[in-house]
Amino acid sequence: MTVVAVGPGDALYLTIKGREALQKADLVVGFKTVLDVVQPWLEHAEVKPMSYRDQEDVLEYATAQVALGRSCVVCCWGDLNVSARELLARVRRRVDHVELIPGISSVQIACARSEISLEDVVFITLHQRKESSSELEELVHYLEEDRRHIILLPRPFDLMPAAIAGHLIDQGIPGQRTITIFQRLTLDGEQAWSGSLEECRGLTQEFSDLSIMVLPRSAEGSADSGGDQHGT
Ligand SMILES: C[S@@+](CC[C@H](N)C(=O)[O-])C[C@H]1O[C@@H](n2cnc3c(N)ncnc32)[C@H](O)[C@@H]1O
Repeated sequence: MTVVAVGPGDALYLTIKGREALQKADLVVGFKTVLDVVQPWLEHAEVKPMSYRDQEDVLEYATAQVALGRSCVVCCWGDLNVSARELLARVRRRVDHVELIPGISSVQIACARSEISLEDVVFITLHQRKESSSELEELVHYLEEDRRHIILLPRPFDLMPAAIAGHLIDQGIPGQRTITIFQRLTLDGEQAWSGSLEECRGLTQEFSDLSIMVLPRSAEGSADSGGDQHGT
């Protein structure tokens, strides 16, 4: 069983390693939107889309096929080390050995578009199906600390940019702090919006489920950081 992370949406961001695994596979499974990305690279594989409702059944089928000696690829979005823990756990529970082929994350694309480095970033996801109050607390903490830029995955569709900005202002984060929201990175219709937290709180437009937020550290935070330091 191999897990291939397919990148942020544009099929050209799939790695060569991932493409080779897909071309060799007998069976390829994944959520439909993820399979759409790799469609151009599939050759002879049986393709089985899954949904939140039937993912256990599809993974069970894949496990049985692996036991019969067929090679199976489970596809996941972006990179598999970024907010894909639940799917990975479902796969790992079933087979002793899983090969992981990482991909390019939306987080890396957001860094590239914002011209910031990963070593200057704190990454927080609200995109988990559990209580998100601790992540929101962490978000407030790192904004107050103001040492690093923050890259944040909102949670479609109950914790989206306007609600998050409102929460941050209510928690005492200055409304003039800036924020950028990227939608559909690398895909048709890619968009970026930048403004203040206060302006973001007032936004009424609907955001795509493929939205990622960058909250840069403030000018004071940058001045304190001591410039271009090397670290891990
Ligand atoms: C369950 S998380 C998985 C993240 C994925 N493993 C990755 O590395 O990008 C899905 C969330 O990632 C973000 N995302 C993924 N692809 C994106 C894209 N092309 N543009 C903007 N945000 C994206 C969105 O916040 C989306 O709701």
